[in-house]
Parts: sequence; structure tokens; C-alpha cells
Amino acid sequence: MNLLDPTAYEAVRRPLEQAHGLPPACYHDAGFHQRECDTIFTQGWLMVGRTDRIPDPGDFCTVGFGDVSLILTRAEDGSLQALSNTCRHRGAPLVKGEGHCRAFSCPYHAWTYKLDGTLAAAPGMQDTANFNLADYPLKRVRIDSWDGFMFVCVSEDAPPLAQWLGDLPERLAMYGFGTMRTARRVEYPVACNWKVWVENFMEGYHIPSVHRSTISRQKVVNMPEEPGRGEYTAIYERHEGTRALLQGDEGFGPIETLTGESSLGSRFILIYPNAMLAIANDTMWCFEAWPEGPLRTKIVLSSCFPAERFERPDFERLASHYFKRQDIVVGEDNDIAEWQQAGLQSRHASPGRFSVKEKIVHALDNWVLDRVLGIREKQS
Ligand code: FES
Ligand SMILES: [Fe+2]
Repeated sequence: MNLLDPTAYEAVRRPLEQAHGLPPACYHDAGFHQRECDTIFTQGWLMVGRTDRIPDPGDFCTVGFGDVSLILTRAEDGSLQALSNTCRHRGAPLVKGEGHCRAFSCPYHAWTYKLDGTLAAAPGMQDTANFNLADYPLKRVRIDSWDGFMFVCVSEDAPPLAQWLGDLPERLAMYGFGTMRTARRVEYPVACNWKVWVENFMEGYHIPSVHRSTISRQKVVNMPEEPGRGEYTAIYERHEGTRALLQGDEGFGPIETLTGESSLGSRFILIYPNAMLAIANDTMWCFEAWPEGPLRTKIVLSSCFPAERFERPDFERLASHYFKRQDIVVGEDNDIAEWQQAGLQSRHASPGRFSVKEKIVHALDNWVLDRVLGIREKQS
């Protein structure tokens, strides 16, 4: 089967009630995955966590997927910078992980770059003809932020972040994400295709079975989904209390500024392609999905609370209840994602049908196809 032939997807393109899922090979084929990197991950805005990962000049962290490897840092003037993590001399990476430095000095021959990527020193190059430091800066990639969420974009052609997000910032303004702080950042390596994890995040169909002994007991009413303008999709659920704790555990109580629906339930947002927000009335969790090839995904979870919660003497104790819930429930999701992935790789796997509770799974699959098949470029 040719996975880049649009006629192979006629059944995925139908309305939800009549549609089939993606062919299983879309979840493990190396060529299809490469095409996703070329048309999705290098063409749009990707969330790289919160700006408080790198609060001060010289703080840095690294991020990557496929053949993209970036250093995110804060320059002397406080601006966010995204720099290619490959030396302009003979290509060695400059740093790994995260840390703090005054300049990036290549471990190989010590070419040294300022925090804004300009080359400041290149020892032993004085006799090289026509060599000017100014001609060899690190390549800079687009970086921007919204209310403390940090995004990068490898493409020069993608619209600005504000356009990518559309009306989302305005719709979520009441939560005050800009003044929230990150209490914990955890990484989960998961042996599944990135779409498997994201699809699971955006459907509640699995909750009674996968989460039967944890969060399934809470009575939840799914409200009509909120259509919006921007590269995102949203779910709202109404329920009592918070969705972010296990039953019986004490929490911080609702964020004081919330009113209306926001105080009475939870929102789940997918900002295409890699960012997922779980917004309860007392906390916000942001998940990043980073593909590491077709069969592996790194999920990163940042847990945020309003800044004033951190001042409370019982902060650690109460925050640990939220982390306990995360570790258990996200663990259940990671396990089912790996379980599903194994089945998708069976030679007998074939596309199934959707429940109406899987509206966003269907929407995501079609969003992916629009890009992978090049239909979106042709239309615009
Ligand atoms: S590869 Fe970086 S200084 Fe030589
Ligand atoms: Fe789940």
C-alpha cells in the first residue's frame, strides 16, 4: 500500500459516523513518519514547555526531533533565543541537556558563541583566508511565547505564533497562565507512535476501562465541544470538584479568579501538533509530545499552579497529591499506548471504526493527512 496516495484514505475522510481509522502502517512506517517530520513537525509551532525553564540570561535547555537539534536560551537582554545545536566549524553539538553558561564553547576545538548565537572566538583561525567571525553565527530559529508557554518553529514560512493560536489566548485568559509557575517537570519515554499518545489524550472513551480504578468514578458530563479559530481543538467537561486529584485527596481548591464554566469543570486542549493542555479549576498541566522515530515518543509533563500557591506552608504536601494522581493515571495511559502500539504492528491489524466519542481522534487523523498528503498547501 502506498501511504502517500490520497485514494488510500477515502474511508478516513468520511464524516465521523461513517469513517474508518488510519491504516495501522501510519503508526509505524518509517517513510510516513519522515513525511510527518517534513510536513508537520518542521512546518509549525511546537511547544517546548514553560519559559520558567530558562528564567535568567545564560540558562539553557535543549530539544530535538528527527534531524532538528536546538538550544533554547535567554540572551543578556532577556530575550528568548532558539539556536541550532551544531557548531559552524565541523558540526559538533555544542551542549546537551540543560544548564547555565555565559557562552557556548564547542567541546571539539573551542569555537565560542555568545548567547545570541554570534561567534565570539575561534582560536587558531587567524591564518585562514577571508575568515570573519561575523560570517559564522549559529543558525537562529523562530521562538515565541504566550502566557509563559514557549514555542519554537523551524519553518520561516509558518504564520506567526499569534495566528497559529488564533482565539485560544483570549479564551483562556481568565486562568492567568502568565503568572503560573512550574512545580514539576517529568519526562516519560513511551514506546508508541506520537499519534497514539495524542489520540488517547483527546478522547474519554477509554476512561471507564483504562482508568477503572482511578479516575473513572468521578461523574463527568461532556459538554458540547467549543469550536475555535486557530490550530487547536478543545474539549470541556463539567464535574464536581477537580479532575486533577484522586478521590479523597486534599488539594488547593479552585483558582479564585475563575468564574462560570471554567470554575465548574475541566478543559483539554490540543494545540497541533505536539502540545496538550489539561486545565482543571485548580491546576494546569502541559504535555509535550516529541517523536523519537516512528515507534517512540518522549512525553514531557509540566505541572503548574498559580504563583501564590508556592508561598503556602503546606505547598509541598498538597502538590504531592497532584503528582501522585499524575504518576498513576499518566502511567495507565502510557501502558495502554504501548499495548496498542504492539497490536498496530501486527500483520493482521486493519483500520477500525470510530465511536462518536472519538471525534477528535478523527479530527487529528484528518489534520495529519491534510499535511502529509500536501492537500493543505494546494488549497492555500
Ligand atoms: S567542531 Fe566545533 S570547534 Fe570544531
Ligand atoms: Fe487516559
